[in-house]
Amino acid sequence: MEFYIMLIHLAGYFSTGIICPIFISPIIKMKKENKQKPNIYQGEINRRNFITKSAIAGIGLGALSFSTASAKRAESEREISNLSKKRKLGTLEVSAIGLGCMSMTSGSYNPPRSKEEMIPVIRGAFDKGVTFFDTAEVYGPFTDEEIVGEALAPIRDKVVIASKFGFSFDNGQRSGRNSQPKHIKQAVEGMLKRLKTDRIDLLYLHRLDPDVPIEEVAGTVKELIQEGKALHFGLSEVAPDTMRKAHQEQKVSALQTQYSLAERFPENQILDTCEELGIGFVPWGPVFRGFLGDKFNEFSRFSEDSRFASVASFTPEAINQNMALLKLVREWAMKKDATPAQISLAWLLHQKPFIVPIPGTTKLHHVDENMKATQVKFTSTELEEFRTAFSKIELAGVRTMESALKDQ
Ligand SMILES: NC(=O)c1ccc[n+]([C@@H]2O[C@H](COP(=O)([O-])OP(=O)(O)OC[C@H]3O[C@@H](n4cnc5c(N)ncnc54)[C@H](OP(=O)(O)O)[C@@H]3O)[C@@H](O)[C@H]2O)c1
Repeated sequence: MEFYIMLIHLAGYFSTGIICPIFISPIIKMKKENKQKPNIYQGEINRRNFITKSAIAGIGLGALSFSTASAKRAESEREISNLSKKRKLGTLEVSAIGLGCMSMTSGSYNPPRSKEEMIPVIRGAFDKGVTFFDTAEVYGPFTDEEIVGEALAPIRDKVVIASKFGFSFDNGQRSGRNSQPKHIKQAVEGMLKRLKTDRIDLLYLHRLDPDVPIEEVAGTVKELIQEGKALHFGLSEVAPDTMRKAHQEQKVSALQTQYSLAERFPENQILDTCEELGIGFVPWGPVFRGFLGDKFNEFSRFSEDSRFASVASFTPEAINQNMALLKLVREWAMKKDATPAQISLAWLLHQKPFIVPIPGTTKLHHVDENMKATQVKFTSTELEEFRTAFSKIELAGVRTMESALKDQ
């Protein structure tokens, strides 16, 4: 039965992928994604392999002495709990993997989702162990914070809410960067209302305003912390020098910057600076906007109104070139009975103990899959082998290592 279902889906994959490769609108693309699903099959196959192998392993274990088996089990449980336990961003404790909520509203990767659809995803994520939820004033704008606020209101004291300021809005549209102290304070009042809370656990500067020195921004957040309206200060997409200046004025708990197997520029001084200053690192785009979740393939195309159309790594040529990395990640997924998204997230978790990825998703089954990445383990030899292999792949449309040293 499963074999026939697989054949039907594979037929769907080839017919939708080759005969009709152009996605006319994001909505049509969504439907096609659902038909293609090569990643899901691979995931399912991997999970089946896992169950089969676990069963075989179970029979084998019966032949071992009780003490050897229980010692091995204890050792492996310890390894798993090491990765799955909570992590610290500065002094702020969060789940090892958070939930990025950006794509739950319009203007991101999907057609807009309804509050009714997204609230169960956020609450379901909490049930699966997620305690760290990421949003921003600019997502929507405003509507994403409303969804997150309503979803988390009943469990407010059990979760960490992160949101970001840094823009002006005109007629409901983003109209430029703005980190003037007065504007930050006004923005935070709006954020608190939409998030249905009296404090923002982690308040990030989203993008640096070239007209306001970072020390002044940090000083304003310091006042908000003194007033109890924010608990921790975060930065996003800034250079190491800016982190240092901000940290001197107000302790920074986290830096949120893009980082994944495909975008590795934070390895140029950013991660080292975080480690030196005791700042946590929150990678956004940890599955490379879905690409490393095996959501797209060489036949994926985007209409002009899709956000992907303006992303350099999602042009037809770039996707084609970057498939080499996805193929490598798929191979490691097969090898480790995991899915490509899990390999991508587990690799990040293994880079530094203060790294907390926030994969974005609108699907509870993806939350579940992503959380299980905490159970995928790499030995140091495997990490070296993996890095040697992916370092040889020339990627297209990704940021340069030098970009790490510039505020974005
Ligand atoms: N600070 C900043 O400047 C900044 C910038 C961008 C984003 N962010 C934050 O970071 C979060 C994550 O970044 P991101 O959303 O840009 O990129 P991402 O997490 O790398 O990718 C999100 C995409 O991956 C898909 N996905 C997630 N898990 C998957 C899985 N297991 N299998 C297959 N596909 C999967 C999602 O689609 P489905 O919905 O279909 O699962 C979604 O379209 C955002 O939600 C936002 O909160 C911050």
